Amino acid sequence: MSPLSPQRRVYVETYGCQMNVADSEVVAGILSAEGYAFTSEISEADVVFVNTCAVRENAEERIYGRLGLFSTYKRENPHLVVGILGCMAERLRTNLLERDLIDLVVGPDEYRKLPELVEGAMNGAKGVAVRLSRVENYDDITPYRAEGVCAWISVMRGCDKFCTFCVVPFTRGRERSRTLGSVVAEVRALADQGFKEITLLGQNVNSYRSGQFEFADLMLTVAAVDPSIRVRFTTSHPQDMSDRLIASIAETQNICKHIHLPVQSGSDRILRLMNRTYAVDGYRKLVDRIRKSIPGVSLTTDIISGFPTETEAEHLMTIDLLREIRFDGAFTFKYSPREKTKAWEMGDDIPDEEKGRRVWDITRLQHEISGERNRLLIGSTLPVLVEGPSRKSAQDFTGRTDDNRNVVFPHADEQQGDLVDVRIERSNSATLFGVIDRATVRRSAEPYQEDAA
Ligand code: 5AD
Ligand code: SF4
Repeated sequence: MSPLSPQRRVYVETYGCQMNVADSEVVAGILSAEGYAFTSEISEADVVFVNTCAVRENAEERIYGRLGLFSTYKRENPHLVVGILGCMAERLRTNLLERDLIDLVVGPDEYRKLPELVEGAMNGAKGVAVRLSRVENYDDITPYRAEGVCAWISVMRGCDKFCTFCVVPFTRGRERSRTLGSVVAEVRALADQGFKEITLLGQNVNSYRSGQFEFADLMLTVAAVDPSIRVRFTTSHPQDMSDRLIASIAETQNICKHIHLPVQSGSDRILRLMNRTYAVDGYRKLVDRIRKSIPGVSLTTDIISGFPTETEAEHLMTIDLLREIRFDGAFTFKYSPREKTKAWEMGDDIPDEEKGRRVWDITRLQHEISGERNRLLIGSTLPVLVEGPSRKSAQDFTGRTDDNRNVVFPHADEQQGDLVDVRIERSNSATLFGVIDRATVRRSAEPYQEDAA
């Protein structure tokens, strides 16, 4: 952009996982360095980006729905540049350009080209950049973040696990990790800006490796930057959940005691077909080790229902496993066939209605279990990091406990970023409700470590 041209405004809409949220911040970092401004109003934008997800078909359908709306803006402003970013761009490539509306298609490893591509599109040149890289990790880009309490940092990209149902290895390419030094420098900068919680992200975050450093080293070093900052991580693969990582979580006061550990199925045959690399018994033993080492840890999981050839008996094995492990929460998905994956070749023999019934069985059971686990906390007083006003009522604040439970409570003069003690009075399966125990209100500037002593 020439220094004399008016500042162009970019509107970014993000779908899918936290990695995409972090990627949108990288995109914003790249464009702001080139002088672009950002807007939350599509009607004011010169450039509209949709950062997309391709993990399930319904994620893509939702995005097609949004494109319909963007067409109306483009009719009003024919110079509007519309770009599809992320996993769907990588998956569908030039096919997306067949739509008149779309000017740019840019995959997750090509965001450095955006300034040049946008410039071209402003002059009428449609652009596609979808090469995957073995090295791109945007290590040197400073993500552009809104101020807040919680920040997400992507520390590794891609995935080499090749679960047979999953498109991620094809849309995000091979695993690669950022250097420990660059992550730590980013954490220091976030601490200086006042962030109070940092989540280290990767599709398969615990397989992080940079030189001699593995994920436990990264977690310990990040946690040591500022003991008043909470550190979280997601998503873990059971295979990479090392004893050293478990011990690091147990022993480090500001590493949060919550692990998202997708199990996907309770049947060994289905796990084998999924190429998950563990059997149910191995997973069960891992959970035992985690629970013994980290008292009070919360565990959440992902389940896929209706994977090709899954029988009713195998579905019931998943139900039994949920009853046995009693996760604190679970996300359940209907299996969605994705082109290029191994499972795509296995067909899609479970009717949609049957997948829906199995998902419902699991959701209902998990709802009960989550409700029971939350109910056990009524009467206890838990430290909660204040994140902001509750969505449902301006009089209430919302925040999370160390083990990642949502808490809603009436506030007085507390502020975002304060760590407060909340006495839990009631609960449902998704939320705890309580009141601040005012005798122990702490300000965000006070170290977290001393609080727990
Ligand atoms: N169909 C349904 N669910 C899927 N997931 C990944 N791929 C698919 C698919 N093809 C789920 C897995 C994963 C979560 C992020 O999304 O459970 O853990
Ligand atoms: Fe997909 Fe499996 Fe990699 Fe997770 S670990 S991103 S489910 S291939």
